[in-house]
Amino acid sequence: MALVKMMMIAIALLFTFTFSVAAEEALVSRIAFGSCANQTSPQPIWDAIVDFKPQVFIWLGDNIYGDIRRPFKLFGNERTIGPWKNVPRFVPSSEDEMQSKYNIAKTNHGYTRLRHIAKVIGTWDDHDYGLNDAGKEFKLKDTNQRLMLDFLDEPHDSPRRKQAGVYASYTFGPEGRRIKVILLDTRYHRDPLRSDGTILGDAQWTWLNKELNGPPSEITIIASSIQVVSNLSACTGPLFYMESWGRFPRERKRLFNLISNSKRDGVFFISGDVHFGEITRYDCATAYPLYDITSSGLTQAVEKVIPSFLHFVLRFLAWVTPTTMRVINNNTCKHRSCTYGQPNFGAIQVNWDANPVKLRFEVRGVSGEAVNSVTTSLPELEASKKRKPDIIKGKQQYCSLEVDLPWLVRHRLAILFTFSVAVVIVVQVGVLYMAISLMVKCLRKCKLD
Ligand SMILES: *[C@@H]1O[C@H](CO)[C@@H](O)[C@H](O)[C@H]1NC(C)=O
Ligand SMILES: *[C@@H]1O[C@H](CO)[C@@H](O)[C@H](O)[C@H]1NC(C)=O
Ligand SMILES: *[C@@H]1O[C@H](CO)[C@@H](O)[C@H](O)[C@H]1NC(C)=O
Repeated sequence: MALVKMMMIAIALLFTFTFSVAAEEALVSRIAFGSCANQTSPQPIWDAIVDFKPQVFIWLGDNIYGDIRRPFKLFGNERTIGPWKNVPRFVPSSEDEMQSKYNIAKTNHGYTRLRHIAKVIGTWDDHDYGLNDAGKEFKLKDTNQRLMLDFLDEPHDSPRRKQAGVYASYTFGPEGRRIKVILLDTRYHRDPLRSDGTILGDAQWTWLNKELNGPPSEITIIASSIQVVSNLSACTGPLFYMESWGRFPRERKRLFNLISNSKRDGVFFISGDVHFGEITRYDCATAYPLYDITSSGLTQAVEKVIPSFLHFVLRFLAWVTPTTMRVINNNTCKHRSCTYGQPNFGAIQVNWDANPVKLRFEVRGVSGEAVNSVTTSLPELEASKKRKPDIIKGKQQYCSLEVDLPWLVRHRLAILFTFSVAVVIVVQVGVLYMAISLMVKCLRKCKLD
């Protein structure tokens, strides 16, 4: 009898042991992410990503360029720009075309290597949603949701295939060392730009509230296709505008309040979309700094669209454009502006064994070199920690909004642009005037002769 009891206890113990080992999730300490990958372009960046040995890779959107882009044309039958344009510059692809673009992306050799070593998850942005800058009005969104989830190997019975939008969450790692990744869908429910309406829509807000107030995690990464912290448009308008949470100020405030009220520590953002990399932080939204690490793109990058001898002009303009949130870290930034306009990916490293736990955020280039980085620690992302505000020239750093900059500073880029155009016009008029007066002089002289 005693023997049977002992054997039963032993079996029970064995069961509990194997069960808890199985439940013990593998520790995650290396995460890579990226956005904006043209499937028909060479994609050498995957080698650098594979070399980083991420355990998880996160797609942040524009995972393929699904829509069709017509060339810039001022004249002719199909005019895509100017007040006289008669056709849209971007048109959606058919389902077959989308599928074949996904096939090209998925069979890319480098990406295939990555899929073998890392768990790949992700969300979408406009071009893989199906149309440049599109929101909730886009007709093909359900078809494209299915194609996108197929690309990510989402199981057929996944709830993500039944809901409206591709938002999802994942938790990695054992208790005490958990990383939660929350993927937002900034497309499916989004109201028109300039409406200051919703980005996420009611159902996704309810879900996000539950996710933030649900089981704890030491680190929580909120992945948004568009930038959350930076509001570059405030300093590039009226020349040009980008999509961002900043363009929906009420929705952005709601997001920050939700994070604050959830009392969740260790939250930061990752984003893509803008075709350059940067790291920003906002210290006055919640009780601890909110970082936003932007990596864009895996192939699409601002400096690739102009010849290399003009790169210095772009870098100068990036430096001239004011910013209140960008982390200017002179030791690791490749350029003075601390933006990076060549292909790049994002890299997150967590040193769980350090005390306190250390975090390193990087933007890395095609050879795997860090071109921008920030090192912080978990206590730095805790609401209860007493911290001295970063004051420079009597002002708290990373605290004031871009729209609150003095008018002259905020519009520096537009002023520079207007001034340059004016100079070019004045020079041209001057040259023309000189040429005409020379001709007139010559004619008179010729007549006299
Ligand atoms: C993608 O790359 C191909 C080949 O280089 C090019 O023709 C096409 O215009 C690119 N698409 C975009 C959206 O950049
Ligand atoms: C961001 O900039 C836009 C354009 O200037 C402005 O309308 C918006 O209010 C700004 N958002 C925030 C949060 O400052
Ligand atoms: C970075 O360099 C700029 C200009 O050289 C300087 O004004 C700034 O204080 C430096 N920042 C840090 C954090 O060292």
